[in-house]
Amino acid sequence: MADTEKPERIKSGIDGLDEMLHGGFFKGTVNVVSGGSGTGKTILGSQFLYEGAKDGKKTMCIITSEESKSIIKEMRTSFGWDFEELVEQGNLVFVDITDPSLRLQKSVEIAPSELIKSFKKLIQSKIEKEKPERVFIDSIEALFLAIESNYKLRTLIDDVFGVLRKFDVTSVITVGKIFGLDEMVEYGADSVIKLDRVITGNNLQRSVYVMKMRGSGTINEVRVLSISDKGMSVLAQSPYLE
Ligand SMILES: Nc1ncnc2c1ncn2[C@@H]1O[C@H](COP(=O)(O)OP(=O)(O)OP(=O)(O)O)[C@@H](O)[C@H]1O
Ligand SMILES: [Mg+2]
Repeated sequence: MADTEKPERIKSGIDGLDEMLHGGFFKGTVNVVSGGSGTGKTILGSQFLYEGAKDGKKTMCIITSEESKSIIKEMRTSFGWDFEELVEQGNLVFVDITDPSLRLQKSVEIAPSELIKSFKKLIQSKIEKEKPERVFIDSIEALFLAIESNYKLRTLIDDVFGVLRKFDVTSVITVGKIFGLDEMVEYGADSVIKLDRVITGNNLQRSVYVMKMRGSGTINEVRVLSISDKGMSVLAQSPYLE
């Protein structure tokens, strides 16, 4: 393949991460950020949107649980990022599926697969209407937790990811470490970024590595993930003490 035919890369917005990804996410792919509680998943996805929206790109944030509802507030207190301003400027759109008006809330009356079907329809219509270049879903587990059969789970995950790929949006989707659901979600993704912590004695470091990236080489190292008042970045150093 000639160089010019290489698929376009979309910058993650995280300093140091694009180097690990050999240039960024491929345009139109589904990129999963996987890690335990408090490892930085929401910040990574929010920064992906923030950097895109500041650059004039149209972005969309899809909130699927009560826990992800406070993104606007958290990004302001953590880093001073003004998401409301980006919404006013038209570069950021929020879709909150917990909003009762959408009648999409996880409810005992709705069968889990019906919820996912409605979710697919909803994101399809929102993406068609708003035409975002970047989509962030925080997080995916609320949608899939109630699915009992692994076979069904795999099919439904592929269905939801298929909608995102169809519209050629570049998406970041978070998943927590929960009942093996994260592994199933990772199988369906085009790339997986793993976030964690490394404890050596009393030293605690955040860590990051690229678990997979379809169609691309990656830097195969565990590196330090830094979160400061300026946001998130990846340092070219090991989280393990020498
Ligand atoms: N300005 C800051 N400087 C340093 N660390 C920060 C700053 N703001 C937030 N953090 C850290 O980031 C972590 C939260 O990251 P984030 O919310 O992205 O995690 P998460 O993986 O989404 O967690 P959850 O599983 O609860 O959704 C917190 O533990 C917090 O200490
Ligand atoms: Mg989170």
